[in-house]
Amino acid sequence: EALEKGGYDHFMLKEIYEQARSIRDCLRGRIYPAQGKIQLGGLQEYKEKLKMVDRIIIVACGTSWHAGLVGEYLIEEYGRVPVEVEYASEFRYRNPIITHKDIVIAISQSGETADTMAALEIAKERGATIFGICNVVGASIPRITDAGAYTHAGPEIGVASTKAFTAQVTVLTLIAFYIAQQRGTISQSKLIEFLTELDSIPALVERTLQCNNRVEEIAARFKDSNNCLFLGRGSSFPVALEGALKLKEISYVHAEGYPAAEMKHGPIALIDADMPVIFIATKNSSYEKVVSNIQEVKARGGRVIAIVTEGDTEVRDMAEYVIEIPQTDDAFVPLLATIPLQFLSYHIALMRGCNVDQPRNLAKSVTVE
Ligand code: G6P
Repeated sequence: EALEKGGYDHFMLKEIYEQARSIRDCLRGRIYPAQGKIQLGGLQEYKEKLKMVDRIIIVACGTSWHAGLVGEYLIEEYGRVPVEVEYASEFRYRNPIITHKDIVIAISQSGETADTMAALEIAKERGATIFGICNVVGASIPRITDAGAYTHAGPEIGVASTKAFTAQVTVLTLIAFYIAQQRGTISQSKLIEFLTELDSIPALVERTLQCNNRVEEIAARFKDSNNCLFLGRGSSFPVALEGALKLKEISYVHAEGYPAAEMKHGPIALIDADMPVIFIATKNSSYEKVVSNIQEVKARGGRVIAIVTEGDTEVRDMAEYVIEIPQTDDAFVPLLATIPLQFLSYHIALMRGCNVDQPRNLAKSVTVE
């Protein structure tokens, strides 16, 4: 087992560190930035369908559902197709309205989650085109789908999903730009810019991974907190949800992810000096709005930890701790901003004496309903 962990103390840590490689593997042979070309072999046959589609429904559970929410943001923003993201376990039991015109995409690391599989079966019965985004090659979901794209993250052993999540987001990014290209909702020159930036993401992930020591110091300060709030806007909202889920799963600290602006409709009542609030406050389109949300938390004595863009000074002056990540386009922020949150939950769990790789009551693959 020590050998399998490749010198790391835990699979989770190893898998966090693998992300520059896993994202690179996920992109390999799929993007040609200079030509503005995206190659998704599995979806090739469905180009026309993607061009004409009126609606995409994403079904998933857990972390994969969070990836779906990032996908919604990307596909709507760039491909201009309405997207709905559903918990598979809810979708399947409520007589969903699906037609032959819909594309239903299942996201599943294992490709075996019972609820996700059942949701797909319903969609198929009702005539939808069904796609899969899976990590495990040849699993049940990829076997029943019409088409799909593997994430190529390699085996994920830690129960808390890390590299599979960023690989799912990478595939969804590719699909969003692929759809945009088919539908003409992005110019070729813009696409070249995006693909060039996407190509540099593994290197930026490498740099982001250097925040580990800094995050460990922060974890030591907050390890005894019993609650934690994660806030973000836009595509950083699902990143906040994922940060909260990671912390809950492996450190058993109660954590909630919320859209930063929704805080005033409830969670703000919880804020006091014992409540760490983690903001994703990178320099993007909603930056100023997030800054004012940080002020609201500060005004109530909350303790702010912020993930910011390198060189940021405004938030640095307000927050108790900042963690810097490299500058990148809005579209790619989730791929970087997730990493410090993975480290944070890892260190807090370790410091609390929890079993990081095999948290109580959780399973890697949930094949029961
Ligand atoms: C379990 C795992 C999670 C995972 C979820 C969905 O709860 O512990 O890490 O996100 O199932 O699994 P899937 O294999 O469908 O992505």
